[in-house]
Amino acid sequence: MNEIPVITIDGPAGSGKGTIAKLVAKKLGWHILDSGALYRLTAFAALKKGVSFEDESTLAILARNLDVIFDDGEILLENQKVTTDIRSEECGNAASKVAACGVVRDALLQRQHDFRQAPGLIADGRDMGTVVFTDAPIKIYLTASAEERAKRRLNQLKENGINASLPRLIQEIEERDDRDMNREEAPLKPADDAIVIDSSKMNIEQVVKKVMEAIDK
Ligand code: C5P
Repeated sequence: MNEIPVITIDGPAGSGKGTIAKLVAKKLGWHILDSGALYRLTAFAALKKGVSFEDESTLAILARNLDVIFDDGEILLENQKVTTDIRSEECGNAASKVAACGVVRDALLQRQHDFRQAPGLIADGRDMGTVVFTDAPIKIYLTASAEERAKRRLNQLKENGINASLPRLIQEIEERDDRDMNREEAPLKPADDAIVIDSSKMNIEQVVKKVMEAIDK
């Protein structure tokens, strides 16, 4: 039994998990695991090295041997800064293809467990509460409508000076949800003991408050 506490935050793309995880981790002074980044890094490395997404055994080798450093918000892959590169929609969609592959998931499991360090861990992903940290005392499942999530993404892109189409973003989000929720390996779903928060009509502060209330209880 691992004594180091973990709070899992799972949910679909664009539900705000990353933002909430960071804020809660900061409030508690705990570590953070952005598990999606590991799948994004695997997809990024595969695209760069020309490894096909069908070639599961080579993908698993890539995942197991990822030479990655998480350094105060920056992500270095083989000593190259890839923090922004892996955030693209293209990389997110590629990650969701790579993530459907069971051997890749197995290859990343130990690396995720290694993030469980004192005083505690906030783990953000799709299967944190259902597969990776099933013993977590607090499990959050954060969701929002596809339209709301696409709008948030559109605003984010606008802030970075990038134009995008809302209907196209909604379609991409729905496709990614479908792939993540209906795959055989670790499909996205709330753990049986998860607290489900629908943030469609909530702002960031309200969601953080709700999570902190769950922790205080
Ligand atoms: O959370 P993020 O958008 O960075 O995740 C990218 C993709 O990685 C997701 O769409 C999902 O397919 C996959 N993923 C996963 N399990 C996790 C985290 C992410 O399958 N724990």
